[in-house]
Amino acid sequence: YDLWLRYQPLAAPVQAELRQAAAHIVAPGARTPTLQAAVDELVRGIGGLARQVPAIPESAESGAILLVKPDTLPGNLKGKVSFDGLGQEGYRLLSLGGAQTLIAANSDIGLLYGSFALLRHLQTGGGLQGLDISDSPRLQRRMLNHWDNPDRTVERGYAGQSIWDWWKLPDHLDARYTDYARANASVGINGTVLNNVNAKAEMLTPRWIEKAAAVADVLRPYGIRVYLSARFSAPFELGATATADPLDPAVRDWWAKKADEIYATIPDFGGFLVKANSEGQPGPQDYGRSHADGANMLAAALKPHGGIVLWRAFVYSETDATDRAKQAYAEFKPLDGQFADNVTVQVKNGPIDFQPREPIHPLFGAMPETSVTAEFQITKEYLGFATHLAYLGPMYEEVLKTDTFRGGEGQTVAKLLMAEPLSGIAGVANIGSDRNWSGSHFDQANWYTFGRLAWSPEGSAADIAREWAAMTFSRDREVIDKITGMMMASREAVVDYMTPMGLAHLMGTGHHYGPAPWVNDLARPEWNPAYYHRADAGGIGFDRTATGSNAAVQYAAPHAALYGNRQTVPPELLLWFHRAGWDEALPSGRTVWAELVYHYDRGVAAVGTMRRTWAGLEVRVDPARFRDVSDFLAIQEQEAIWWRDACLAYFAAVSGRALPPGTRLPA
Ligand code: GCU
Repeated sequence: YDLWLRYQPLAAPVQAELRQAAAHIVAPGARTPTLQAAVDELVRGIGGLARQVPAIPESAESGAILLVKPDTLPGNLKGKVSFDGLGQEGYRLLSLGGAQTLIAANSDIGLLYGSFALLRHLQTGGGLQGLDISDSPRLQRRMLNHWDNPDRTVERGYAGQSIWDWWKLPDHLDARYTDYARANASVGINGTVLNNVNAKAEMLTPRWIEKAAAVADVLRPYGIRVYLSARFSAPFELGATATADPLDPAVRDWWAKKADEIYATIPDFGGFLVKANSEGQPGPQDYGRSHADGANMLAAALKPHGGIVLWRAFVYSETDATDRAKQAYAEFKPLDGQFADNVTVQVKNGPIDFQPREPIHPLFGAMPETSVTAEFQITKEYLGFATHLAYLGPMYEEVLKTDTFRGGEGQTVAKLLMAEPLSGIAGVANIGSDRNWSGSHFDQANWYTFGRLAWSPEGSAADIAREWAAMTFSRDREVIDKITGMMMASREAVVDYMTPMGLAHLMGTGHHYGPAPWVNDLARPEWNPAYYHRADAGGIGFDRTATGSNAAVQYAAPHAALYGNRQTVPPELLLWFHRAGWDEALPSGRTVWAELVYHYDRGVAAVGTMRRTWAGLEVRVDPARFRDVSDFLAIQEQEAIWWRDACLAYFAAVSGRALPPGTRLPA
C-alpha cells in the first residue's frame, strides 16, 4: 500500500547521521496546506528513515532542514541563495554546512516537490553532505487519465474498482485520496482526469460536479488539478438543447454556463478531455463540423476561466478500412492551425492502440501550429494486464527518444513535447482500489516511471527502475541490480512472446488478453487480428509502403524512406511496414519463419529467466510480496508458452511451415 513511499529505516550509521542533520524541520512563512503537506511528508519520511521524528521549531541554527522561498529566506541567507531557473514548480536542494540543508523554491508546490526529491535522495542511499541539486519539470501538464466509470468499474482497469467512491462522495473522503495525492506529487503529476473518456453526460450535472469538487479539494494542496472527460452530446442528452452542434448558439451558451458553474465549485478546474467521433462516441462530425469546431467551442467556454481542452486524436471509422493506422493523421493534419490556443490535441504514442510495440504516431511534429500532448497507457491493456510483469519505462523511453525528423534531425518526440506552448503528457492510469493500487507490485513501477518521465521526458528508464527498486524493495545493490535487470528485459519479452517483429493486435477479441491470431470474422475489418498480420501461404505482414496502404509516407521524409524500404526498416518494425515471404532471408541469417519462431521462443525463455532471478531473491524480499510476484511470474510463464504455441501453431498452419519440435499445441 505504501508504494515507493515506504521510508524504511536506513542502515544504523546513516540513520544516526540523519538524526543529527535533520533533527528539525523549519518552514517559515504562512503555513499553507501545501507547505503543511511538505512538512508532514518530511516528518513522516525522516521519522521512518532515521527512526526519529523531527521537531518543527520556528527556527534552528543547526541540524535542520529549511524550506524557504525568496520571501521567507532568513536574514542571514538573503542574497546568498539563488532561485534562478527554478520556475514556479522547480526546487533546489542545497547543503549549507553546519548541518543545515535547504529546500529552496519559488512556490509552496516547489517546496513540496523538493521535499519529495530530498526524501527520494535519502531513500536511494544519498546523503546530505555537499548536496546541490536543482530540478524543474519540463512539461506544464503531467496528467493521469482515469478511465473510471460512475459505477466504479474501470475500463481496461486491472486493479479492482475505481478508487473514486462516488456513492460516498462528496460527504465522505476516503483517506486513500490523500495517499493518491502524495504518491502523484512525489513524482510531479499535477493533473488528473477523474472519469472515462467514454464519458457519461451525467458527469456534468451538479451532483457529480460536487463530487468532483470534493476530490479536487483533497488534491489541491498537492498541486494536482482535476479535469473531467466531457461527453460531446451532453447538452442534448441532458435535455437542455435540441442538438449538440458546436456552432449552434444555444449549445455554445450551455457549455459556457456549464463552465461557469464548474469553476464556481472548482476554481482551479483544469478543463475537459474529449473523445469525439471515435468508437461510437458522439462528436462534431455528427453535425458536419470538424474536430476543430468542436474543440474550439469547448475552448471558448473554458477560456475565461483559464481552462483547456485536451482533444483526443484517437479516431478510426469503418468508412475507411484501408488502414486504420492512417486515419488520425488524415483527419487531424489538415486542421493544423485551426485550433484555439487553449486546445491541445492528445495523441496516443503509436498510430494503432497501445500495442506492445508500435512506431511513433505520425502526428508527432506534423502539426506545428497546434499544441500536441502525448498519451501513453500505464494500465497494460495489451501487455498481459496485471499478472504479466512488463516494465513500461523502456517503451516510454523508446517513444520519447525517437526522432521525428520534423524541422530537422534530432527533433525527438520528447523535444517536440517540451517545445509546445501548451505542453503536456498523459498516462492512462493503472490505479484502482486494490491494496497494492495497481493490480501487481511491479505495475506500481509503471505509474512511477510515467510520472518521472512526465517530469523529465529525456530521463532514463533504467535509472528510474533502479530508483524505484531501491525505494520499493531494497537498498541492497545486488537486489537492485537483479530487479532492475528483470524490469529492463521484461517489455521486450512480452513483445517477443506476443507480437514480435512488428506484428500487432493478435490479442483476443474485446478483452485483449490471450492470443487469437486466427480471428477473422468480426463485423469490422480492423477488429480482426487477421487484418493486422495478413498471414497466408505466401507470407506475413502489413504492407504500409507505396505498394500497400502507404502509411509510411505520413512520417517525415527521412522516416518515410527508412520505414518504407525493406532494407532499412528497423527489424523490430519489419512486419508493421512490410509484407515478407516466409522463406525470405533476414540480416540475422534466419528466414522470416525461423525468425518468428526464434522470437516466440526467446520471449518464453526470458520469462523463465525472470522467474529464476526472482526465485533467487526469496530471502531478500518480504514473504508476502515475494509470493505474489512468484505466483504472477508462474502465470506469466505459462501464458507466454500459451502465446507462443497458439501463435506458432496458427502461423504454421497458414504458412505450411513445420512447427518447431517440442511445440505444444493448445488443447
Ligand atoms: C482502446 C480501448 C478502449 C478505449 C479506447 C480509447 O480501444 O480498448 O477501451 O476506450 O482505446 O482510447 O478511447
